[in-house]
Amino acid sequence: MKPAHALHGCFVTGTDTEIGKTRISAALLHVFAEAGRRSAGLKPVAAGIDLIDGQRVNEDVRALRDAGSLPLTDAEVGPMQFEAACAPHIAAALEGRAIDRRALLDAACALAARADVLVVEGVGGFCVPLGADWDTADLAADLGLPVVLVVGLRLGCISHALLTAEAIRSRGLRLAGWVGNRVVRDMPWADDNVAALRHEFERRHGAPCLGVVPWLADPSPAAVAAHLDIAALHGVLASSSSVFSS
Ligand SMILES: Nc1ncnc2c1ncn2[C@@H]1O[C@H](COP(=O)(O)OP(=O)(O)OP(=O)(O)O)[C@@H](O)[C@H]1O
Ligand SMILES: [Mg+2]
Repeated sequence: MKPAHALHGCFVTGTDTEIGKTRISAALLHVFAEAGRRSAGLKPVAAGIDLIDGQRVNEDVRALRDAGSLPLTDAEVGPMQFEAACAPHIAAALEGRAIDRRALLDAACALAARADVLVVEGVGGFCVPLGADWDTADLAADLGLPVVLVVGLRLGCISHALLTAEAIRSRGLRLAGWVGNRVVRDMPWADDNVAALRHEFERRHGAPCLGVVPWLADPSPAAVAAHLDIAALHGVLASSSSVFSS
């Protein structure tokens, strides 16, 4: 058994797919890099390969790689990538492959040995199957990092957010806080929804709001980071030590 590495960082999950996990994760990496930390992103399982500038890449992997301050390869940031843009266990099956749980932990461990802070982006929502008997919630539990929940602000998000918070806590994980993200440009009563989320997260979980990000024409890491509570994020990091061995 190799020596255990202390792992500092967070696991970023969301109320759904396509609600801004990558944008928020990239902003977190930017914040920690600006603070002089060696920040590294990890997208343990990535589904969907695109051709960008003649290169076959996964967009999330590339965005996290670009936002972190530690120089990394696509393979280090995205250790398990699949061609088809669909549920990961289906994408894996299409290629006759299995998602290797041990390999994902080894990848996290390798980055933890080189980085000061690791930002891990989950896949889709919180409970996405990765194999016949495990899912992304198990992956988060394996890593043991505090969880940041990105709430895509749209109709239905309050229940999705609170159900996800219950699932996170039922796995014994710490809900470090939540970020509201305006993925819908003109959501009616958006402020009222945010107020309800603030109240319910505080009342049920004592979980703070780490930022509310408006709809942005260019949601670059720096532009998104300007709407995050930087002091609170550093607090998350300070209390985020998880130790595992591989
Ligand atoms: N605050 C925002 N303003 C404008 N557009 C946004 C904002 N947040 C996210 N988007 C856009 O919404 C889309 C989905 O965002 P993103 O890729 O971060 O979602 P995701 O949750 O990581 O999705 P996936 O489940 O595929 O990983 C992207 O096109 C992104 O640029
Ligand atoms: Mg993403």
